[in-house]
Amino acid sequence: MSITVGRLELAHTLLNASGTWDAVEAQRLFGEANPGMAGFVTKTVTAEPRPGNPAPRIAPSRMGLLNSIGLPGPGRDAFLETLLPELATIVAGPIICSVGGFSLGEYVETVEQLDHHSDCDAIELNVSCPNVESGCASIGGDAGETERLTAAARTATDKPLFVKLSASVADIAEIAKAAQAGGADALVCVNTVKATAINRWTHKSQFGGGGGGLSGAAIKPVALHAVLACSDATGLDIIGLGGVETKDDVEDLMSVGAKAVALGTALFRDPSLAKKLRFELGE
Ligand SMILES: Cc1cc2nc3c(=O)[nH]c(=O)nc-3n(C[C@H](O)[C@H](O)[C@H](O)COP(=O)(O)O)c2cc1C
Repeated sequence: MSITVGRLELAHTLLNASGTWDAVEAQRLFGEANPGMAGFVTKTVTAEPRPGNPAPRIAPSRMGLLNSIGLPGPGRDAFLETLLPELATIVAGPIICSVGGFSLGEYVETVEQLDHHSDCDAIELNVSCPNVESGCASIGGDAGETERLTAAARTATDKPLFVKLSASVADIAEIAKAAQAGGADALVCVNTVKATAINRWTHKSQFGGGGGGLSGAAIKPVALHAVLACSDATGLDIIGLGGVETKDDVEDLMSVGAKAVALGTALFRDPSLAKKLRFELGE
């Protein structure tokens, strides 16, 4: 059942979605860092340590979950020196490092350092960040910014380079083509869909930090469309994700062009979901 996604070899088709699985905590709780998954995708790493958005950062939605987490993390140095080496001792399969930034320079510096780090097997660019230098609200919302960023990262690494696309764009196929022109080996479709939650009594956002993103079952049709459109537009390998909960969801995404599939929000309800799906898919 082994596969290759954008030059990265995986023992099978299931992964976790960035930011939805804590491998260190899982190792402590379950004795396995990434049960049922063919590798591990890290939380997005930023240059500086970040506390993330103020609470509340999570809100329920009828068919999914809203989050306004704001990329909390230890920052690049602590990630490279402490967390990544620890992950390498517990994770089964390759480690895909998700990279974020607020300028091209920030991204490229992290990618360069990951290129030299033996514990990083592939790099996933999370392009759903603003470029504060150019004033662009979301790099992944603009084809030119996406191509420039991907090309800059491409010159900084020979490792497999994935670009994770946002679904909240006018034409995702155009952004996919820009990532391909920049030299991406594979695409990851999709990130959360821009959304918000309102407090009925105050008429203000339920989040401490403003806007949020919708994930879970509600966005499966969005993910299906994104995978289909990006696969048709580029022919690149795709990791499909968004609302995957069942074996049928995995098969649906694969039928429209996903080579691998990642689980996110569904893991919060059932941490053994990857193991169950792997068994069912095997059958
Ligand atoms: C709590 C939470 C944190 C997330 N953090 C990240 C992140 O750091 N980087 C990233 O690229 N995506 C992040 N995502 C988006 C997921 O990786 C995934 O693209 C999205 O949730 C859709 O998949 P799902 O519906 O299966 O959850 C996060 C999602 C959630 C719910």
